[in-house]
Amino acid sequence: MTSRSVLVTGANRGIGLEHARRYLARGWRVFAGVRDPSRAAALAALPAAAGQLMIVPLDVTSGASVQSAVAAMGGTSLDVVVNNAGTYGPVGWSEQARTTQAAGGMDYDVWRQILEVNLLGAFRVAEAFRTRLEGGERPLHVLMSSDLGSIANNRMGQSHAYRSSKAALNMVCKGLAIEWPGIISVALAPGWCRTDLGGADAPIDPADSVAAQQETFDRLTLADSGRFIDRFGETVPW
Ligand SMILES: NC(=O)c1ccc[n+]([C@@H]2O[C@H](COP(=O)([O-])OP(=O)(O)OC[C@H]3O[C@@H](n4cnc5c(N)ncnc54)[C@H](OP(=O)(O)O)[C@@H]3O)[C@@H](O)[C@H]2O)c1
Repeated sequence: MTSRSVLVTGANRGIGLEHARRYLARGWRVFAGVRDPSRAAALAALPAAAGQLMIVPLDVTSGASVQSAVAAMGGTSLDVVVNNAGTYGPVGWSEQARTTQAAGGMDYDVWRQILEVNLLGAFRVAEAFRTRLEGGERPLHVLMSSDLGSIANNRMGQSHAYRSSKAALNMVCKGLAIEWPGIISVALAPGWCRTDLGGADAPIDPADSVAAQQETFDRLTLADSGRFIDRFGETVPW
């Protein structure tokens, strides 16, 4: 039996790296999209059977880079796309970042940069890899969202730039589920994880989040398409 194939963007660290690690351990073929392969040592060192890990240069903010990544995959079709690359801005989750994304202190260049990556970049990846997914048996497209993208659950304000990027991403997820009825598209909140983005105080080990996420991915069906879910598959209110 040929192994199943997944594309993970932002695969050199954090949640994306854990997805690559876990899928490789499960015998999947992993196309690992990274902005700069020279900064992907942890990814390159993952245990993998010969030919199962392909490190693909992929900057989601560049149409040319995304098209090159599609071409680099040859004719391979994909079972899963983990559209994961994302940013909270140049200084990550910190008091400073919360301040520069708060009303009264907004850094508009940062907001633009966040939208470029989290929203336009994710959409660009979705469009570019759609045909690769369509050949699969149960094609799954995961848009990595965030609890901070939930309008219903926003109880503290702040982080306007990041929150709005993820709320808009959720809208994209719903729209793609309608337009691409053969592909399961979900927006996923991974929980607050200890990564560069989440920071050291985050309560969840990204490896644990990813284990739960992949268990959830395995049981999603077309009936789930267009949902906003947490790592366990429970609905997150829009
Ligand atoms: N950690 C959390 O608590 C948490 C919570 C909710 C949602 N999320 C979401 O989960 C996803 C992964 O976050 P993380 O915590 O793993 O963050 P992370 O450790 O900071 O990793 C972010 C990843 O995205 C990549 N990336 C950034 N800009 C890119 C671009 N233009 N093109 C391609 N890749 C790019 C980074 O690559 P470089 O190394 O090249 O910068 C890195 O691989 C993000 O979408 C984030 O919003 C995280």
